[in-house]
Amino acid sequence: MNSRGGPPPAPRVGVLLSRVRVEEKLLLQELQSRGVETTVIDDRELVLAVEKRPDLGVDVVLERCIQHSTALYALSILDTWGVPSVNRYEVAEICGNKLLTTMRLIRDGVPSPRTRVAFTPESALAAVEELGYPVVMKPLIGSWGRLISKVNDREAAEAIVEHKDVLGTYLHSVYYVQEYVPKPGRDIRAFVVGDETICAIYRYSDHWITNTARGGRATNCPVTPELNELCVRAARAVGGGVVAIDVLEGAEGPLVNEVNYTMEFRNSIDTTGVNIPAKVVDYVLEVARAATVKAAT
Ligand SMILES: Nc1ncnc2c1ncn2[C@@H]1O[C@H](COP(=O)(O)OP(=O)(O)O)[C@@H](O)[C@H]1O
Ligand SMILES: [Mg+2]
Repeated sequence: MNSRGGPPPAPRVGVLLSRVRVEEKLLLQELQSRGVETTVIDDRELVLAVEKRPDLGVDVVLERCIQHSTALYALSILDTWGVPSVNRYEVAEICGNKLLTTMRLIRDGVPSPRTRVAFTPESALAAVEELGYPVVMKPLIGSWGRLISKVNDREAAEAIVEHKDVLGTYLHSVYYVQEYVPKPGRDIRAFVVGDETICAIYRYSDHWITNTARGGRATNCPVTPELNELCVRAARAVGGGVVAIDVLEGAEGPLVNEVNYTMEFRNSIDTTGVNIPAKVVDYVLEVARAATVKAAT
């Protein structure tokens, strides 16, 4: 109720994007079908005069950038300006970095693969040997399975470490080494919106990297109460919102591998029968309404 006693005005939504991919098209269609006033904000054209909050004409921003750096810094500015966003800046910062994510999972007691962090080539090799082969080495920031390496022996470890040392950017000088979890030819990708795991898929592949962007095949994965609880806990650990959780089925139970904050879902709507964009839009509108109520009190 507003001061005149009528219903509150419908939130206006800004969609910050890099390109209208399948996901953005579906989200925009969903917003349009509900008659939501929507502004597309193209990150390629954006110049932000950061000193003063402009009138963006939106009550909430749905972030859908392709580049992590663009998303991260745009969200940081919106956060300082007090513009609500999905996801929040903190969530992008944590989820965009595998080490920060791992530390949040550990903080909150969410099971995840055993991980070692080292800062020099020599200590990285010591970390690898300590974990025992095979191990997985990953850049802290990255997606679509890029530059992650399964290291089966000492010679391969030396080669990867030397390549990272000589050719890597500064982020590659932080060595993130993980136990290899012998998963059953698949992993699980679960979608969390707010306090609920709305659906999940198995990603099957003959390759150890199961990302659908790399050819992994999607089938429906039932959301058991255990999977729901694990994934909601993982989502909360990184700050909550709309996230996709990668789960590895380890011998002693499921392990949360990573949490993604600008999730792709094109392969998961028909597979699961869940209208993911509708759930996302529900949540975005809820965030805007909650912020309006907070501002009024
Ligand atoms: N420690 C691991 N043990 C077994 N498989 C892994 C491990 N880490 C990653 N993978 C496989 O590689 C895929 C990509 O790794 P991930 O950490 O999710 O990086 P990205 O951000 O590139 O998706 C995972 O979906 C999984 O199939
Ligand atoms: Mg992943």
